Amino acid sequence: AGPCDLYASGGTPCVAAHSTTRALFSAYTGSLYQVKRGSDGATTNIAPLSAGGVANAAAQDSFCASTTCLITTIFDQSGRGNHLTQAPPGGFSGPESNGFDNLAAADGAPVTLNGQKAYGVFISPGTGYRNDATNGIATGDAAEGLYAVLDGTHFNGACCFDYGNGETSAHDTGNGHMEAIYFGDSTTWGTGSGSGPWIMADLENGLFSGVTTGNNAADATITSRFITAVVKGEPGTWAIRGGSAASGSLSTFYSGSRPTVSGYNPMHKEGAIILGIGGDNSVGAQGTFYEGVMTSGYPSDATENSVQSNVVAAKYATTSLTSGPAISVGSAVSFRATTACCTTRYIAHTGTTVNTQVVTSSSTSALKLSASWTVVAGLANSACVSFESRDTSGSYIRHDNFALLVNANDGTKQFKEDATFCPQTGLNGQGNSIRAWGYPTRYFRHFSNVGYIASNGGVNTFDAAASFNDDVSWVVGSAFA
Ligand code: AHR
Ligand code: AHR
Repeated sequence: AGPCDLYASGGTPCVAAHSTTRALFSAYTGSLYQVKRGSDGATTNIAPLSAGGVANAAAQDSFCASTTCLITTIFDQSGRGNHLTQAPPGGFSGPESNGFDNLAAADGAPVTLNGQKAYGVFISPGTGYRNDATNGIATGDAAEGLYAVLDGTHFNGACCFDYGNGETSAHDTGNGHMEAIYFGDSTTWGTGSGSGPWIMADLENGLFSGVTTGNNAADATITSRFITAVVKGEPGTWAIRGGSAASGSLSTFYSGSRPTVSGYNPMHKEGAIILGIGGDNSVGAQGTFYEGVMTSGYPSDATENSVQSNVVAAKYATTSLTSGPAISVGSAVSFRATTACCTTRYIAHTGTTVNTQVVTSSSTSALKLSASWTVVAGLANSACVSFESRDTSGSYIRHDNFALLVNANDGTKQFKEDATFCPQTGLNGQGNSIRAWGYPTRYFRHFSNVGYIASNGGVNTFDAAASFNDDVSWVVGSAFA
């Protein structure tokens, strides 16, 4: 049985079921998600390998070979048509044209399930999915349950990495107008024990860890790589549960009455569905989503416990975040551009600005050093790498507002994430394309001889689709110095 078969047996059927990694009904053979590729704008749908099975990631890999792909739709497997697509602007605007949010890279969150490769949905700040015209999702004070499988190590404190029930207008319409799973370490509203991240409930104008607007020490800091997060609500009552998605059982972090502050009892749910954003399209948060559902009715703990067993049996596990020629920790490297204009240019820096410069064996030692980098374990994720300047030790290539800079490591989580890159096979077939860990749609690019992290055809000038593959492909060789 799949998770939604278990919810149905418990009398609380799925009214939305979303996953890019696997079918959530044992009989489901339909599409899981749609991807769109950068080369020609064509789309294709990715289905499970077999009924109830894992997504056909190989079909995506072949469709997206030598170009970029974005996840355009996450299909609802429940049959109710509650698909998730690119979120429109609301109280806040997203970074894409007309205020829409970004779409996620199709290959941004590789994992395996029982040894078979699949891809999750890597939400960078600015990315979001939504459906404002749903069918069968709880409204008003009606009962519902939600669970989601998430990356417990990918989060931030901004508002709001959510999955669940939001406003149909994408605007903040008041307390109690949302009921969504939140994951992250925001301390603006509620908190749990330790320093987070925590599973909380976004009920609008507040992330709640328990009955008050503040701290609930029973809501534990999450430390697992894969997590199962549960939120459910019915008239007068709600609960938060969670645990590792790879082993063990769910803990109950809160179960009891609705918050006593005004507006949350009864609830005023509107029945839109959000992923990766707040109810008002707040777009500052990050996180990774693998699967999740919304039910009709308040699931029993026993039903959720059987869903947790099913998730554990799916055996989520990590896999390589890199591809292409190896870039070894401890080596010293140079990056040569491969665009026809520029094949004698290398990534270098002038002060804090990363640029490309012509470097040869007879260049000055200062220029050679400025184009030479020591490869270290990724500051934010040791499955990827960081590049330390050979002339300014303790300073690393990082992105800031999508420009590449050489800055001193200030020790913050933000710096470490901005300085972590996951090299891939070069998009034009040469060398490597150096993908930003926190923005998998974006790669090292030279544009007018200046360094950026660029997406293929995005809104910034430096995102131009023309010569994208060449501009983001680098021959990584020995350092000059
Ligand atoms: O409740 C927290 C956030 O507050 C909601 O997600 C958003 O709509 C509002 O800004
Ligand atoms: O480069 C994109 C983002 O810009 C970085 O992650 C952040 O440090 C800055 O706001």
